[in-house]
Amino acid sequence: MTKVTLTVNGRAMSGECEDRTLLVHFIREKLGLTGTHVGCDTTQCGACVVHMDGHSVKSCSILAVQASGSTITTIEGLAGQGELHPVQAAFKEHHGLQCGFCTPGMVMTAVDLINREGGTLTEETVRAGLEGNICRCTGYHNIVKAILAADAEMATGRQAAE
Ligand code: FES
Ligand code: FES
Repeated sequence: MTKVTLTVNGRAMSGECEDRTLLVHFIREKLGLTGTHVGCDTTQCGACVVHMDGHSVKSCSILAVQASGSTITTIEGLAGQGELHPVQAAFKEHHGLQCGFCTPGMVMTAVDLINREGGTLTEETVRAGLEGNICRCTGYHNIVKAILAADAEMATGRQAAE
């Protein structure tokens, strides 16, 4: 067993696991943060996306021991005190979820996309940005709509702050 230490959602957390343990299983089973989902375990579906050192990653594609020392944000750490992140709020408002299984991964991918390309997103670039995320309910139309709405709202917020 190897000790893994992470900063997760702003808090130092650690636990022991086997060297073969995937980061997604460490987050869910050792840290108890089950908002990050496991769909395929083989880097296909995107349900397990978290942010590692500020960038979205499929947490089933990394060993927990490889991630040790990094800063992780999960879906649980996205919202502010008592209010949803703008991307979460837009998913709610634009019906960007059906069963919700893909939603944490979709939201984490979308936030990274907006962080990188915010203000310039189009339907085409959002669809390209989501190519690693599968919605088995096929709710892509509203997911894309929600992300574009969140991008527009966040861009307005940035302009107001300038
Ligand atoms: Fe990681 Fe599907 S569980 S991509
Ligand atoms: Fe059901 Fe996407 S909302 S998998």
